[in-house]
Amino acid sequence: MASTRLPGKVLADIAGRPMLWHVVNRVALATLLDKVVVATSVEPTDDAIAEFCHDYHIECFRGSETDVLDRFYQAAKQCGAHTVVRITADCPLIDPHIIDKVIDAYRVGKFDYVTNALHYTYPDGLDTEVCSMAALETAWKEARQAADREHVTSYLRNAGRFRISNVACERPLPADSWRWTVDEPKDLAFVRSVYEHLWSQQQGAFYLEDIVQLLEREADLAKTNRGIVRNQGYYATLSTEAPVEPQRRELSRSYALKAKATRLIPSCAQTFSKSPSQYIQGVAPVFLSRGQGCYVWDVDGNKYIDYAMALGPVTLGHNYPAVSEAVSQQIADGNAFSLPHPLELEVAEALVMMIPCAEMVRFAKNGSDATSGAVRVARAFTGRDIIACCGYHGWQDWYIGTTTRNQGVPKAVQELTTTFEYNNIDSLRRVFTRHPGAVAAVIMEPIGVVNPTNGFLEQVAELTRREGALLIFDEVVTGFRLSLDGAQGYFGVKPDLACFGKGMANGYPLAAVVGRREIMELFDEVFFSFTFGGDTLALAAAKATMTEMCEKRVIAHLWEQGQRLQDGYNILAKAYRVSEWTECVGFAPRTVTVFHSPDGGDSLVLKSLFQQECVKRGILFSGGHNISFSHSSADIDYTLRVYRTAMEILADAIQHRNAAERLAGAPVQAVFRKP
Ligand SMILES: Cc1ncc(COP(=O)(O)O)c(C=O)c1O
Repeated sequence: MASTRLPGKVLADIAGRPMLWHVVNRVALATLLDKVVVATSVEPTDDAIAEFCHDYHIECFRGSETDVLDRFYQAAKQCGAHTVVRITADCPLIDPHIIDKVIDAYRVGKFDYVTNALHYTYPDGLDTEVCSMAALETAWKEARQAADREHVTSYLRNAGRFRISNVACERPLPADSWRWTVDEPKDLAFVRSVYEHLWSQQQGAFYLEDIVQLLEREADLAKTNRGIVRNQGYYATLSTEAPVEPQRRELSRSYALKAKATRLIPSCAQTFSKSPSQYIQGVAPVFLSRGQGCYVWDVDGNKYIDYAMALGPVTLGHNYPAVSEAVSQQIADGNAFSLPHPLELEVAEALVMMIPCAEMVRFAKNGSDATSGAVRVARAFTGRDIIACCGYHGWQDWYIGTTTRNQGVPKAVQELTTTFEYNNIDSLRRVFTRHPGAVAAVIMEPIGVVNPTNGFLEQVAELTRREGALLIFDEVVTGFRLSLDGAQGYFGVKPDLACFGKGMANGYPLAAVVGRREIMELFDEVFFSFTFGGDTLALAAAKATMTEMCEKRVIAHLWEQGQRLQDGYNILAKAYRVSEWTECVGFAPRTVTVFHSPDGGDSLVLKSLFQQECVKRGILFSGGHNISFSHSSADIDYTLRVYRTAMEILADAIQHRNAAERLAGAPVQAVFRKP
């Protein structure tokens, strides 16, 4: 009853009956259940639940308010249960058929724990969990963290020692946007409407299919409670846990190598974002030597959970078996040839099948090759010179001349590219006005850290075409991360050309320009030619990566785990009252943390402090999260425990205005200065 967001919710009225009445009656329709017990707390606030159970002859067990795992275990023990099914009382649309399905999967597969909520294929609110009494007892004995005690099954999911399985919904549902659980008044309003449409005492129960049909008929109904964060309670509990202690780390090899590298390699790295200027020196490693899954090891042998993931391309995980095997096999056949290799055709065919605008394909190595190739072919196609861009597009002159790192770019080249603002169609209109009939192409990241609003992408496409220019989507980041068909598929806006890179080949160097045939055919003449363009190792990696992505729930996993991390970060920031200083933004598979200073600008000092405290605890944090298929729920949970610790330190530093004094080294630097 003591819900903070909706007190007394489990006895709230729905169609003339308390919510709990509906839940118990729906659960009782599951044919594979022997007994239904309500497990509530001994707190006086929950007396009303006990009275309700008494009035309706429902068995009721009362136990700890905060140690819900203990309450749940004791209730199951008292019943002499061998198998325990957990349903939460705030799910009045719980479906007895699904309960039976999950129990059946548990029985057939001889698992310790089965649920339909490990992956989000059902709407939130149909969560069914089945576990053996033995597994529950082990969790009850071993789980120490407050979140695991309060949220009952997180230990079973994350300990890594139980045989667990997920039951997925057979038909694709918009599980991310449909919310059928009750945490907030808007949820209750939604559920009440569903009951009004579908339930009467005489008609009895209604099922998943009935609700789906209703929501398809009444599209506005599902909007009633859109945008509420899933599992808020879990993240909030993390802030009540003990902080994660820093680990002792030897870093001498890293710093010995750095001393040598400083004399040999400008910036000590081949990419600005990997250089020591991006990590707090003295605390963070400088060199990494090995990676497996979502973990990396530095040259001193320290292990970290990696969130940069090589700046994004490692979408499946480091040394991902299917990719490493494909590459090894290709090595055995030779890697570089004097004529094209059939793999070029196979990967091109895959891209044409997956990417809406792709009719032909040319390969390259880096994202910058692809964006520069697209720009060149667009200039050739239109006979115009001016490029309008929005986002980051790589190191080449035509783009980098627009940034503060423009040294060495001739003025004449700089004048040919101009920028416009995301979600500001007028800023693009002004480009066309300033350069009438001269704009060859509009190149843009279809999404950066904010969503397109007011049909921005559609407006850009329409304006660009009207002005006779080509639209190029730079999908170097969004490709094979946001969606299998790219941002163009996700948002339903088809560009003329698109550039892919990073996520195509799980970290092997491959990029591609794809697009409309009549434009792409110009590459017969336009010079876009590389010794390593047809590198078979990267192509073999791409083929294996794409196959894995199509066959497994890779993209869904990136969204789910990314969303958990983003939600957890933002809820922790609120819990420590630092949400005005830091926030995690972006689309879930690739989010960015921003830190603000009191004057509204970036605060590199706060970012440095947060990074320092994360790195000390085994999180290689550089400001962004490139989630991979190898980041498990347990990895995300550990990360959030570290974030909770770092957030507490950050809050304290903000309060005492001494963040800079707490840094072990110089603050991290921005790759691009403010203009
Ligand atoms: C959107 C976007 N386009 C292009 C590039 C350039 O790719 P690369 O660094 O592989 O040349 C990047 C790199 O981060 C990028 O984020």
